[in-house]
Amino acid sequence: MSGYHDAYAHWQKDPHGFWADAARDVSWFRTWDNVFDPQSGPYGRWFPNALCNTCYNCLDVHVEAGRGDTLALIYDSPVTGTLRTFTYAELTQEVATLAAALQQADVGKGDRVVIYMPMVPEAVIAMLACARIGAIHSVVFGGFAAAELAARIDDARPKAILSASCGIEGARIVPYKPLLDAAIAAAAHKPAFCVVLERPEAPCTLTEGRDHAWSDFTAAARAPGSLAPCVPVLSTDPLYILYTSGTTGRPKGVVRDNGGHMVALKWTMRNHYGIAPGEVFWAASDVGWVVGHSYICYAPLLHGATTVLYEGKPVGTPDAGAFWRVASQHKVAALFTAPTAIRAIRQVDPEGRLLHNYDLSALRTLFLAGERTDPETIRWAEAQLKVPVVDHWWQTETGWVIAGNPVGLGLLPVKPGSPTVAMPGYDIRTLDADGHEVPVGETGTLAVKLPLPPGCLPTLWNNDERFVEAYLSPLPGYYTTSDAGYIDADGYVFVMARTDDVINVAGHRLSTGQMEEVVAAHPDIAECAVVGIADDIKGQVPIAIVVLTAGVDRPLTEIEGEVVHLIRDRIGPVAALKRVIVAQRLPKTRSGKILRGTMRRMASGELAPTPATIEDPAVLNEIADIFATSGLAPSARAPR
Ligand code: COA
Ligand code: AMP
Repeated sequence: MSGYHDAYAHWQKDPHGFWADAARDVSWFRTWDNVFDPQSGPYGRWFPNALCNTCYNCLDVHVEAGRGDTLALIYDSPVTGTLRTFTYAELTQEVATLAAALQQADVGKGDRVVIYMPMVPEAVIAMLACARIGAIHSVVFGGFAAAELAARIDDARPKAILSASCGIEGARIVPYKPLLDAAIAAAAHKPAFCVVLERPEAPCTLTEGRDHAWSDFTAAARAPGSLAPCVPVLSTDPLYILYTSGTTGRPKGVVRDNGGHMVALKWTMRNHYGIAPGEVFWAASDVGWVVGHSYICYAPLLHGATTVLYEGKPVGTPDAGAFWRVASQHKVAALFTAPTAIRAIRQVDPEGRLLHNYDLSALRTLFLAGERTDPETIRWAEAQLKVPVVDHWWQTETGWVIAGNPVGLGLLPVKPGSPTVAMPGYDIRTLDADGHEVPVGETGTLAVKLPLPPGCLPTLWNNDERFVEAYLSPLPGYYTTSDAGYIDADGYVFVMARTDDVINVAGHRLSTGQMEEVVAAHPDIAECAVVGIADDIKGQVPIAIVVLTAGVDRPLTEIEGEVVHLIRDRIGPVAALKRVIVAQRLPKTRSGKILRGTMRRMASGELAPTPATIEDPAVLNEIADIFATSGLAPSARAPR
């Protein structure tokens, strides 16, 4: 019998009491006035006026409790052939040293620090060092291009940027320094200084007067033995800003606070993931994404568990047995990754032969998130691993699971295709466009009745207005997730698709609107639409449907190559736009709006009615023909 229903009922009956109980698991320097203040912030704030420090709870607490020798972090890097471990005592030493160096360089409470780093321990050390001194970090994923980094620099206005000379993508060395330099040159805001980790795989030239080598920078604190103490911050002070894709090219700065975030994440480790302190938890994601923030860095450490930082891929580093090697070698109890990674492994090793080389007896659960897990992937993984495979739904905005299967409280029956049930804290409803609930089993927008639970974004960085406009105004009284789906009679949630212009490519969230802005900048393109089409491995990939400027008569392959290059250059390789197809015209409403949603549904083979407002329905047949002849979306059909 799962304890889930009792836990959810407890939360429903007494939400403040529920979170106050959970908050007892965190060490506070001063407790809160009220558990929740509905008057502050756009929808209220959790644990107002409490004083705490996230780094203290991630590190010092465990050392003080006599667990300094427990392993905190395992860095496993097949791409560099490195294995490094840090106990809690060692990690505290490293973090406090970097924190002291940052303080010496005048970085303090409330200052922003951009972290643009690959999957190396220094990235986690940097995040924790910022948390230690109350600075607000903003980690930027390494797969983004200079222009994206520049946009984040201008929004966050950091005092410092911490970076590295390169990342390593499988066999490819990705030099970061040119991207860093180009981003700083393009940004209006200039950081006071940068610290660059010089990796042997790609030495770089430091910029005089601006850049410090990581080793020199930390030596200034290490030599005299300077260790920064933990600076008390308000529970409601920001811990970090993480930018995520919206419907336009301007990314949204999701703010995470300190107190509520710790309470929520700690609760999930035991109750959702079923992990005990001292066990090994591995989130095979990247510190640049929210999963990496919450489950590589913060949650496992808050819980006194051991976290794995893996610098490699599911396939090719060196083979499709890489995940099983890491899980076996480090006795991983729970593995958390994106379905796309499992599909990539399955494609190379469909029989799971490589799995037989490893002892996975420590592994109890595989958790998947980042995109909907297709039932076939769940069945395959269950058959191979012989452990429960748990899909769970969350967003950068929430920072932790919205709907999941709480293994710690007792596993509920898995319904493939559903991330299972609402977690305590989330009252999920399915609403129509007018904000009315739709009947059980019918599809609508999935929305969360306010307030959001602790850990979720309280607002967007310096932009309450945009937060309200994007998330609260569309359905008054609710937070709109921008995901469409339904809830069945057993309360199982099914998350089917985004309702906006966001697509999910290999577990990476991308904005088609942003890609369109870039494609439209090509001089030979008059107008365009970018839509996601189904892909066996990545779930979705973007394609651009373009109308060429009158008179353009160049080979399409040339234009395609230039567009692909533009996207890589302006957004980054992670956008994965590889195909451009030409149409004579795009379907539009009578008022001239491009019918992107209709094309998106056609590309995924969905049958939808022809929009009543369409200017010329014949265009839809032309687009269906183009999809079919290009071999990109063979199931595409025009709406009727
Ligand atoms: N730095 C620089 N470049 C990066 C990068 C990084 N951190 N991450 C990805 N890229 C590049 C890749 O090298 C690739 O470049 P290419 O077009 O020159 O080959 C491009 O961006 C697209 O990357 P990706 O979408 O990751 O595709 P892939 O073919 O390299 O790998 C998977 C496919 C499925 C193995 C991989 O996407 C994966 O492991 N996904 C899981 C994602 C995840 O963990 N998401 C977090 C949610 S839990
Ligand atoms: P991100 O903010 O990058 O984590 O992406 C969040 C989006 O990914 C959600 O809004 C969903 O569209 C999608 N998503 C994440 N996890 C799931 C899941 N388990 N099932 C369905 N969609 C998911």
